[in-house]
Amino acid sequence: MLKDMKFIFRLMGKNKGRYFTLLPIWCIIGSFIDISLSYALKLLTDFFLYKNNENILIMVLVFSGTIVTSIFFCVFFHLHNKVKEDILRDIRIMTFREVQKLPSSYFKSTHSGDLVSKFNADTQSVITVFGEFENITESIISLFLRIPFVLILDFRFGAILLGFSAITGVLNALFIKPLREKHKVILENKAALSKEASETVTGFTAVRMFSLSSYLRSKFEKSVQDNFDSGWKAAKTYTLQRGLNGIIWNSSNFLTTILGCVFVIKGTLQAGNYMAISTSNGIGWSVSNLISALPNLQKAFAGSNRLKQLYDENKEPDLYDIEGTDSDMGIQLLDVSFAYNENGNAEENSHNQFRISGLSLEIEKGKTLALVGDSGGGKSTIAKLLLGLFKVDDGKIQINGKSYKDYSLEQLRSETGYVPQDAYIFNGTIRENIKYGKTDASEGEIVNAAVLANAHEFIIDQPNGYETYVGERGIRLSGGQRQRIAIARAIIKNPSILLLDEATSSLDSESEKMIQEALDRFMRGKTSIVIAHRLSTIMNADRICYIKDGSVAEEGTHSELLAKKGLYHELYYREFAQNAI
Ligand SMILES: Nc1ncnc2c1ncn2[C@@H]1O[C@H](COP(=O)(O)OP(=O)(O)O)[C@@H](O)[C@H]1O
Ligand SMILES: [Mg+2]
Repeated sequence: MLKDMKFIFRLMGKNKGRYFTLLPIWCIIGSFIDISLSYALKLLTDFFLYKNNENILIMVLVFSGTIVTSIFFCVFFHLHNKVKEDILRDIRIMTFREVQKLPSSYFKSTHSGDLVSKFNADTQSVITVFGEFENITESIISLFLRIPFVLILDFRFGAILLGFSAITGVLNALFIKPLREKHKVILENKAALSKEASETVTGFTAVRMFSLSSYLRSKFEKSVQDNFDSGWKAAKTYTLQRGLNGIIWNSSNFLTTILGCVFVIKGTLQAGNYMAISTSNGIGWSVSNLISALPNLQKAFAGSNRLKQLYDENKEPDLYDIEGTDSDMGIQLLDVSFAYNENGNAEENSHNQFRISGLSLEIEKGKTLALVGDSGGGKSTIAKLLLGLFKVDDGKIQINGKSYKDYSLEQLRSETGYVPQDAYIFNGTIRENIKYGKTDASEGEIVNAAVLANAHEFIIDQPNGYETYVGERGIRLSGGQRQRIAIARAIIKNPSILLLDEATSSLDSESEKMIQEALDRFMRGKTSIVIAHRLSTIMNADRICYIKDGSVAEEGTHSELLAKKGLYHELYYREFAQNAI
């Protein structure tokens, strides 16, 4: 609870002071208006019944005072709401920054639907915490002012109201536990439902392909039913709670009315006092509000808690403290070891024995190194290590004659052009997608990059040319077109190092040829590591490393390796010889 509060304070940031100053101010003004009106009612009644003329002036003063304070109330209430909106805006911005600092392992082990709901539902639900702060403050202030007011007007009624308040308190306390348990089930069911829904949306091709629609629909329908059941159960409990509260306060009203009449007839109570007291049944509301404030707060904290987990995640540091080798190589890895078990990814790895150990690789500036080997050998992992997506456990890395630790991860990534097998295309126009490589690129640079990537021609054939929307993940483009846009994006960045991870492997031979041409042009003069499956790329490389089980099994030029008659030789004859003949 204390931790939750601390986190909320952190989220509120500099708005904290403003919020907690404004909140009690409008609550006090609000309660003050209520009481003044009750008091004015008393004066009015006394005036009519007892012709109590002296009171008329006070009454007019009270009424006009109330109107003026109402204006103040509106102003402060408005300012308060403005702070709340400010807070919500700042939370969204802060959350986005936190997400950007997450390490890549987080995204691998977290469902994207989960992350999106953190942005929307959870940031929004933080607002319910504020709703509770308001309830609590309003109730406390109202009770502090109301109860003495009634006691001063008439001690007997004050006692009755306090008695009924105590009963309400006990009654509502009894509901805390069952409601909390029911609410927990609701939240669990809700999470399951949104996961179900986002799976269907993100995986729709697979869903259609495998005719999973009806299977997923029945799964979804079950989830919806569960949501309904848990919601309905909670609703029944709420109804019971409300009903009982109603019975108690109606009885209290009934009792005060009867007693009021009796006392007034007997002459032990002024009719005006009775009128003022009878408008004070808001006390019951305040009491039940206060009693349920704690569980409601806990409920509201559930949302902020989910957000807190995100803020508490390990963040990617600015740089990795990895020594260099003092060589003048373009890229050099020395005795590097790594296993996918950092950043709390244990679950994913309990069954995964893969590790890189004692890996040494080097490539001179401006030269090309090809990595070959069977799938699962660790080639893509090497590329990810060079990009700083994961931190090596041990070993040294030198890049462009500088130690790895002399680069911030941001610099490192801006030095490197990375084209994976299935490059990510953002939902936007083609121009935007290319520009992501260099956000301040000029029109000429964009077109130039597209021409170099062999993409310009297909782009101008699109209905809106460079302004064509590509859809989510570039769904409106073919695989080859997407790759060419990704290459244009890498070209416009003009990096000194290139990492190509099977950049053409998922393409038909026509697109492959076009892309290979583009890449060959682009690679000239750059330090490149190509993870390749195409013979010509491999043969053109200055060196070849055969990667097996996380280390270099063979190394040399094409002809050296063939002469060795080892793994490369075997791969060559298995994969390429038929095509070569
Ligand atoms: N994010 C990850 N978490 C855990 N294991 C992974 C991850 N990515 C890849 N691996 C494992 O690392 C091994 C090497 O994968 P990879 O580097 O992609 O091989 P290659 O590119 O040579 O086919 C595989 O056994 C794979 O299952
Ligand atoms: Mg791979």
